[in-house]
Amino acid sequence: MSTKMIDDLIVQAEVGSGEGTICSSDLKQPIWSLDVAEGERAKPTYGAGASQWDKAPVFAPLQHQIPAKYRQMAHAELDRRIRAVKETLGERLVILGHHYQRDDIIQYADFRGDSFKLSQLAATRPNAEYILFCGVHFMAESADILSSPQQQVILPNLAAGCSMADMANLEDVLDCWETLGQILGQKPNAEGQQPLLPVTYMNSAANLKAFCGERNGIVCTSSNAETVLKWAFARGERVLFFPDQHLGRNTGVKLGIPLEEMVLWDPSKPLGGNSPAALRQARIILWRGWCSVHQRFTVAQVEKARQDYLGVRVVVHPECPLEVVEAADEAGSTDYIIKAVEEAAAGTVLAIGTEINLVRRLQAEHPDKKIFCLDPVICPCSTMYRIHPAYVAWVLEGLLDGQVLNQIRVDEKVAHAARIALNRMLTVK
Ligand code: 13P
Ligand code: SF4
Repeated sequence: MSTKMIDDLIVQAEVGSGEGTICSSDLKQPIWSLDVAEGERAKPTYGAGASQWDKAPVFAPLQHQIPAKYRQMAHAELDRRIRAVKETLGERLVILGHHYQRDDIIQYADFRGDSFKLSQLAATRPNAEYILFCGVHFMAESADILSSPQQQVILPNLAAGCSMADMANLEDVLDCWETLGQILGQKPNAEGQQPLLPVTYMNSAANLKAFCGERNGIVCTSSNAETVLKWAFARGERVLFFPDQHLGRNTGVKLGIPLEEMVLWDPSKPLGGNSPAALRQARIILWRGWCSVHQRFTVAQVEKARQDYLGVRVVVHPECPLEVVEAADEAGSTDYIIKAVEEAAAGTVLAIGTEINLVRRLQAEHPDKKIFCLDPVICPCSTMYRIHPAYVAWVLEGLLDGQVLNQIRVDEKVAHAARIALNRMLTVK
């Protein structure tokens, strides 16, 4: 399997909308051109790729420029240095790689997985003093919450956030909660259900997980959203679901909740853009958030795949819009998609609706099947893509010098409340 697959394709590709094209010429810029130089006042941006056109909030973390020697280092030298530190630190270091990371990073991962699996894995390596999380900010926070106090979690590039997670912040969610409390009341009904229960997707900041922990709420992932919502409806008449409207809506539909009983909460509008009557009638109040990677997939792409390949199996992630999920044959989490590919018979044709680095890797690892991305345009997750071997070499060599660079630490009070919501999810069957 060739490494640097997506990177190589980006170098070769043109900007456009057809086969072999990229969504932005900015993808060709070195990733550190986005970092903040010494003394510079900069606004956060997500960087080239799918979230490029989303506005990053002022609170989104910035990455300061790493030393020039790492930016100038050839790939072979970065590779040599990363492997040398891994060898030196041995079991004291564990490297976790999310499935959407580029191949150049995945090659160093001791474990690959989805966001939840990786956070749990951190806890199974108590000897690892350092957890290098090659993923995005909310994942590193979850790893810090679920690991032991002596373990230190490192995110190689601090600007690797998540545009979807940033679409819900504590202040706006607190405002929403207070407004809904005034409309829906606070008292449990005759069955003991509270009027509203908060459910946050794993892809959210630690303080929002804590918000849920403090209000009888819970966390969900894309693999257990259905089970978690059933749990929530046993305890609440309604659910406030954030930040991904699509996962919430798709799961609601699976549970048989009519679309008229799911309303969208736009935090920039009074009452989220709803009437009090609509809010009272709602079963799910969906936060107006989305993933710009999965929102790129369309029904037209599904139709084209079916036209081009008779009998194609279309599998998409539930962060895709409802009409895309309905047009597909199946929808499931990153892990579900991987299993679907692994278990498919040789010769199967699969069109996948998820992040391009994972789709290309599946393609390379299963040459006996025809696997392709529904979207012909190469448009990686902007923030996952900000992790590059130069940052990995920089933070790892820092460890040898006794410096823990880019540590992600969640305040213990927040972590405690977030752990409650995470543990509720773990015990839900
Ligand atoms: P999972 O890693 O839980 O599949 O979520 C997909 C995603 O968008 C990660 O950021
Ligand atoms: Fe966030 Fe979407 Fe990227 Fe996942 S794929 S990190 S949800 S922007």
